[in-house]
Amino acid sequence: MSSSDQDDAPDGGEDSPLFRRRGPSSADIAEIPVSQSFIKAASNVGFSLFVLAVLVVTVVAVTYQPPDPWLQSSAAITTSLSRVLPNSTYLVPDDSLLPTGEDFNSSSVPAPARADEPDEAPVVPASAAANATACDPDAPLNCSDPRVLAAVKAFNAKAFFRRSIVFLSYEAPVPGPKPGVCDVAWRFRNRKERSWRRYRDYRRFILAPGEGCALEITKVGKFRSGINAARRPQRKGPKSPRVKAPVVDAEINDTIPVVGSEAEFKRGKYLYYMRGGDHCKSMNQFIWSFLCGLGEAKFLNRTFVMDLNVCLSGAHTPDGKDVDGKDFRYYFDFEHLKESASVVEEGDFLKDWKRWDKKKGPGRITVRKVPSYKTTPMQLKRDKSNIIWRQFNGQEPENYWYRVCEGRAAKVIQRPWYAIWKSKRLMNIVTEIAGRLDWDYDGLHVVRGWKAQYKKNYPNLDADTSPDALAAKVPTLIKPWRHLYIATNEPFYNYFDKLRSHFHVHLLDDYKELWSSNSEWYNETMALSGGKPVPFDAYMRVIVDTEVFYRAKTQVETFNNLTRDCKDGINTCNL
Ligand SMILES: *[C@@H]1O[C@H](CO)[C@@H](O)[C@H](O)[C@H]1NC(C)=O
Ligand SMILES: *[C@@H]1O[C@H](CO)[C@@H](O)[C@H](O)[C@H]1NC(C)=O
Ligand SMILES: *[C@@H]1O[C@H](CO)[C@@H](O)[C@H](O)[C@H]1NC(C)=O
Ligand SMILES: *[C@@H]1O[C@H](CO)[C@@H](O)[C@H](O)[C@H]1NC(C)=O
Ligand SMILES: *[C@@H]1O[C@H](CO)[C@@H](O)[C@H](O)[C@H]1NC(C)=O
Ligand SMILES: *[C@@H]1O[C@H](CO)[C@@H](O)[C@H](O)[C@H]1NC(C)=O
Ligand SMILES: *[C@@H]1O[C@H](CO)[C@@H](O)[C@H](O)[C@H]1NC(C)=O
Ligand SMILES: *[C@@H]1O[C@H](CO)[C@@H](O)[C@H](O)[C@H]1NC(C)=O
Repeated sequence: MSSSDQDDAPDGGEDSPLFRRRGPSSADIAEIPVSQSFIKAASNVGFSLFVLAVLVVTVVAVTYQPPDPWLQSSAAITTSLSRVLPNSTYLVPDDSLLPTGEDFNSSSVPAPARADEPDEAPVVPASAAANATACDPDAPLNCSDPRVLAAVKAFNAKAFFRRSIVFLSYEAPVPGPKPGVCDVAWRFRNRKERSWRRYRDYRRFILAPGEGCALEITKVGKFRSGINAARRPQRKGPKSPRVKAPVVDAEINDTIPVVGSEAEFKRGKYLYYMRGGDHCKSMNQFIWSFLCGLGEAKFLNRTFVMDLNVCLSGAHTPDGKDVDGKDFRYYFDFEHLKESASVVEEGDFLKDWKRWDKKKGPGRITVRKVPSYKTTPMQLKRDKSNIIWRQFNGQEPENYWYRVCEGRAAKVIQRPWYAIWKSKRLMNIVTEIAGRLDWDYDGLHVVRGWKAQYKKNYPNLDADTSPDALAAKVPTLIKPWRHLYIATNEPFYNYFDKLRSHFHVHLLDDYKELWSSNSEWYNETMALSGGKPVPFDAYMRVIVDTEVFYRAKTQVETFNNLTRDCKDGINTCNL
C-alpha cells in the first residue's frame, strides 16, 4: 500500500486551506526563521526575497502577484522565482519556505479509487449485528464482536474531531488492557491538507451495553491512545535483494528503485546531471534546479538520475556552516516522487553503468556528453544515446542546473511541481501535534528575529510583538482559554509566558519528544542514514512549525493582525 496517495478533488470554497493559506492575510505565515535564517512564506515568492527586494525593488515589484489563492499556482511561483533567481548569489539562503506540490496543485493525479475512498462498507446496525448470545449483558465483551466496530464508527462519525477529518478504512478492533476496553485503528485524511495523504490514528474506547443490543462508547482516548492497535500491518510482497533502506514505517516506502537486469538497463534512456554549482545553495534553489532537471527528463522522455545527497545551506545550521550528506528523504517524499516521475539513484546508476558497459561493440552503452547548459533540451530531443550526461562545467553561475531551463527552454520545459511533496515523516509529526490538540486550536504567528532588529524597515515590529503588546492584543483576537499554537522564530522559550494567563499556549519545543531519541521519527530517519542519528535541523523545524500553524482554526498573523508594518519593509503593504 502506498502512503502518499495522489491529490484530487479540489476541495475549494472558503473552507479550503488553500483559500486561507494563500489569501492576502497569510502571505507571511511561513516566516518562522530559526537562528539567523530568515524564512518567509513563498506564497508571493518574488516579494519574500526580502534582501533581494532591497537591491532590486523594481524587479520585485514587477513579479508581485496579487495573492489570489488560485493564481498562486506553481506557474506564479515559476514566474517570480525565475525572475529573481538568476542573481541568486545575492539571495539570503532560504528566505522563504517554498510551497511544494501538495500545497497548490489541486488537480493533480486523480485519487486512486481503492482504499482512499471513505469506508463505505455497509455499517452493520449495531442491533442487527447482535443475536441472542451476543446480547447477554453479563457475557464479557469481545472486541471482535461486530457491534464494537459499529459503535466506534458511529461514534467517530459524530465526534468532535470529525469536522476536519475524513475517516477512511478501519482495522479490526483489538482488546485493550482491561475487559470492556477495545483499541481501534483507522486511517484518515485531513481536510486541511490538499493532498490525499492518509494518516493513521488509533484510540482506546471504553464500551458499555447500551439500548437494545447496541453498545455505547462511554469514553474515548486521545489521539493515538489505543496503543494495542498501534502495530502497523506489515507490507506484503517479496523484498528486493538490493533494497537499501529497510522499511521501518510500513506506511512509507522510500526504498531506492533498482534496475533489475542488464537488458533492462540497456533498454533505458537516462538523463544524468552531474553535481553543479547549486550544491549547498538554498533549499529553494535546490528545488528550483532539481525540478528543472526533472522537467527536462520528462521532456526528453528519459529517466532522471538523481543524487539523494542534499547539502543543507549554512542558513539552517547552528554554526552557519553548510552540512553536506543530508538525505533528500529527510525533507521530501521520495515515495511520491518515484510514483510521479521516473528516477534512479546516482550511486546505483553509476555502478550498473560500469558493470554492464562493454566499451565497444554491440553491448556498448552510448553516451552524449553535454558540457554546458547552452545546449538546449530541444537540441537533445532527437538524441538516441542511452545516456545524456550534462556535466555543468564552468564557474558559478554558469554551472547552475536551472540555467538549462532558461531562455527558449523555459517555454518547453515544465517543472513538475506536483512531484515534490514534503516528507511524510515530518508531516507525521505535524499530524501528531495537531492530533494531540484534536484539530481544535488557534494559531499565532510571531515574526521577530532580524526583522525586529531592523528598525529602519520595520519601525514598529519589535514593540508590537513585545510580550506586553502581545498580552494586550491577542486576547482581543482569540477567545479566552483556547489552545493556542505559536509558530515563531523567537528563540527564547519563555517569551510568550504572559499569554499563558489567557490561553493554553503550545510551542514547537513542547513536542520535542516527537523527534527525540526514542521517537518513531528518530528510528525512521536513522534507518535512512545507515544507523547514524539524524538531527532535527532548523529547516525541518520550519516545515513543521509552519504546517501546524496552517492547520489552526483562527490564524493570527504578525503582519496583518499585530503590526501595521509591512512584511517586506516600509511602504510595501499595498504594492
Ligand atoms: C542580475 O544581475 C545583473 C548584473 O549583475 C543585472 O544586469 C540583471 O538585471 C540582474 N537580474 C535580475 C533578475 O535581477
Ligand atoms: C498538477 O499535476 C498535474 C499532474 O498530476 C500536472 O499535469 C499539472 O501541470 C499540475 N498543475 C500545476 C498547476 O502544477
Ligand atoms: C449469532 O451467533 C451465532 C453463534 O452463536 C453466529 O454463528 C451468528 O453468526 C451470529 N449472528 C450474528 C448476526 O452475529
Ligand atoms: C472473540 O471472538 C473471536 C471470534 O469471534 C474469537 O476467535 C475469540 O476467541 C473471542 N475472544 C474471547 C476472549 O472470547
Ligand atoms: C517499495 O517500492 C518499490 C518500488 O519503488 C517496490 O518495488 C517495492 O516492492 C516496495 N517495497 C515494499 C516493501 O512494498
Ligand atoms: C517514452 O519512452 C518509452 C520507453 O522508454 C516508450 O515506450 C514511449 O513510447 C516513449 N514515449 C514517447 C512519447 O516518446
Ligand atoms: C526505536 O528502535 C528501538 C530499537 O530498535 C526500539 O527499541 C524502539 O521501540 C523504537 N522506538 C519507536 C518509537 O519505534
Ligand atoms: C487578521 O487580519 C486579516 C486581514 O486584515 C483579517 O482578515 C483577519 O480576520 C484578522 N484575523 C483575526 C483573527 O482577527
